[in-house]
Amino acid sequence: MKQIFSGVFESNGKIFTKNLVQGKQVYGETHVQENSVEYREWVPWRSKLGAGIKNGLKQLPLKEGNNVLYLGSAEGTTPSHISDIIGSEGILFGVDVAEKVMRKFIELCEKRTNMLPLLSDAGRPENYAKDLEGIEIDLLYQDISQKNQAEIFNKNASLFLKKGKSGVIAIKAKSISQSEKPEKIFAEEKKELEKQFKVLQQVNLAPFEKHHCIFLCEKK
Ligand SMILES: C[S@@+](CC[C@H](N)C(=O)[O-])C[C@H]1O[C@@H](n2cnc3c(N)ncnc32)[C@H](O)[C@@H]1O
Repeated sequence: MKQIFSGVFESNGKIFTKNLVQGKQVYGETHVQENSVEYREWVPWRSKLGAGIKNGLKQLPLKEGNNVLYLGSAEGTTPSHISDIIGSEGILFGVDVAEKVMRKFIELCEKRTNMLPLLSDAGRPENYAKDLEGIEIDLLYQDISQKNQAEIFNKNASLFLKKGKSGVIAIKAKSISQSEKPEKIFAEEKKELEKQFKVLQQVNLAPFEKHHCIFLCEKK
């Protein structure tokens, strides 16, 4: 295993995180043992952040002990890898509006005690501001299919992210418009993000996800 980012490893073209909860799979991923350490494969076909890493993300602004606000946590596939990286000293707050996926996420939070569920609309961050009181967020991450993706991200950033902290957002062009070219939509979303962030990198996610990109940002 070769370390490529803090807590992220590569072997034979595949990426891995160290399993925080020994012996437990989250989404059917393969486990590999090396020198008594259990690694979980991070499947880029199942995780946009995994796809971003495979496609050349230059930095992953995450390390042990970090606090993460994750918008669109769904059943916890990508959150589980972030949970591996931040370890037991960090916390991931997972926001999702859908009760069905939140039920699964809560089950996962029972096993991964560094993740906390927030059933809420990410477009109304004031509704969970009390839950985050006194917590310094190191990374704001978003993956939700809405028309105003960058606007939701900015709203959350203005409440919870200090200057110099990091943001990563996955943009799904087809949720914004079925007819516009994805490149045009990405450029418009980037402009919206630049109201609050310095955009450091844009990574397209094909072939893992069509018409998607990830923006790596730093709060201004
Ligand atoms: C593509 S899935 C996220 C997958 C997840 N990020 C992963 O990689 O494991 C998008 C999620 O966003 C949630 N979502 C959509 N609109 C939302 C909103 N306004 N607030 C919070 N969650 C929302 C959906 O319920 C869905 O679970």
